[in-house]
Amino acid sequence: MTQSTGLFITFEGGEGVGKSTQIHRLADVLRRRGHDVLVTREPGGSLGAEAVRHVLLSGAAEEFGVRMEAMLFAAARSDHIEQVIRPAVAEGTIVLCDRFMDSSRVYQGITGNLEPQFIQNLERIAVNGMIPDLTLVLDLPASVGLGRAKAREGKDAAPDRFEKEEVSTHEKRREAFLDLTRTEPERCKLIDATQAEDLVALAILAEVDSLLHEGTTDEPAKGQKA
Ligand code: TMP
Repeated sequence: MTQSTGLFITFEGGEGVGKSTQIHRLADVLRRRGHDVLVTREPGGSLGAEAVRHVLLSGAAEEFGVRMEAMLFAAARSDHIEQVIRPAVAEGTIVLCDRFMDSSRVYQGITGNLEPQFIQNLERIAVNGMIPDLTLVLDLPASVGLGRAKAREGKDAAPDRFEKEEVSTHEKRREAFLDLTRTEPERCKLIDATQAEDLVALAILAEVDSLLHEGTTDEPAKGQKA
């Protein structure tokens, strides 16, 4: 099909919830249907942002405090949006992004204890109007997700700056992501990631399809005849 404007879809959730597997599965389905798809991630996704990614995930910025980290995430996000995401969506691409502004709200805002006004101001400047059309929140008990992340990385691999935190901190993040699906139900859709991988993929596709059917004139809306 032809598509005049692209879409911006983000994937959020705690550690090890299966975002990256599901993003690649969704990208395959959409490409087979003829869409242009770009898979990207945060922190990172552009040259400038990838340079900042290492500083953040290695923990090199941790000693300078959570405000500094929040500003680095925002700087990386701004570069990623202006260099990659906005131009791709303008060309009609469906952009699938592994983490975005909601991760900053949850990790730096809620569990980093930063003032909401500070996080909101940073978000407004970094995002600069590029709000996701759809955010899929993959939900799983924190202990299960951390176990999966560990298994994926190998039992001897050192956890990154955020993975190494207490399970209770990760549970708080899970609750904060769930809150987003309640406070912004139009944009943020809850996906039960405890299900089998195929069922998670189907649930995600159902949300994406309802967005595609709403936003295009060349596909019938749900329940309408073609
Ligand atoms: P990941 O590539 O394994 O998802 O690692 C990214 C880590 O960075 C993850 O622990 C979440 C964290 N993060 C934040 O704390 N704030 C943010 O804004 C983003 C995008 C990620």
